[in-house]
Amino acid sequence: MKKTEQMYEGKAKKVFATDSEDYCIVSYKDDATAFNGVKRGTIAGKGVINNKMTNYLMKKLAAEAGVPTHFVEELSDRETLVKKVKIVPLEVIVRNIAAGSFSKRFGVKEGTPLKCPTLEYCLKDDALGDPMINDYQILACGFATEEELNTIADYAFRVNDYLKDFFAGVNVDLVDFKLEFGKTRDGAIVLADEISPDTCRFWDMTTHEKLDKDRFRRDLGNVEEAYDEMMKRVLGE
Ligand code: TMP
Repeated sequence: MKKTEQMYEGKAKKVFATDSEDYCIVSYKDDATAFNGVKRGTIAGKGVINNKMTNYLMKKLAAEAGVPTHFVEELSDRETLVKKVKIVPLEVIVRNIAAGSFSKRFGVKEGTPLKCPTLEYCLKDDALGDPMINDYQILACGFATEEELNTIADYAFRVNDYLKDFFAGVNVDLVDFKLEFGKTRDGAIVLADEISPDTCRFWDMTTHEKLDKDRFRRDLGNVEEAYDEMMKRVLGE
């Protein structure tokens, strides 16, 4: 498959067309943003880590958790061939432990284990600041159908069940994470985007040290070291 023109540049990735209608190539950058692009910086080596970690986890989710994904083939340290999908404009957030906006919104102290996992949606719209949206509002606006939303919720909890155990195996609490889904040309819902320290909260189970992008968001220092540590725990590299 040959890379052709750039289709899109996001905050952390570029997407290129290929000479096939059904595939595109994502290229991971080291650029980091937070608070809807207000805070900007670079995390050296992040693109390589996020590319490799995402691919490793997506392969496992497809093979072992029955969650179809857009992953096709890792082409290089930063580039991956994926199925071309139409992204469902929702950020799908699953939480196991209260943190971040959940703690702020509901006054639940960060670090409080939740009695059961939660699922919430935000509309992917930077101009609107990615507002929270519920199932009824999603259906009313036509951002997804009821069947698509049921599939997305089912896959999101399957991802959580699988990854919670996987990360526990490397002494990491999976606090929360954000997924995105896409629709293939034949209408199937597949997991897309990435699963990385940019999009998950990872806390060391013993020390509760943060090993994710909150180190950048909150100016905690040792940002690259945290990404390197997660890469080592997940991929042994
Ligand atoms: P939140 O607590 O800020 O709502 O974040 C919940 C999870 O979603 C956390 O693991 C970080 C991730 N996330 C993204 O991947 N992209 C975003 O734009 C935001 C706000 C959060």
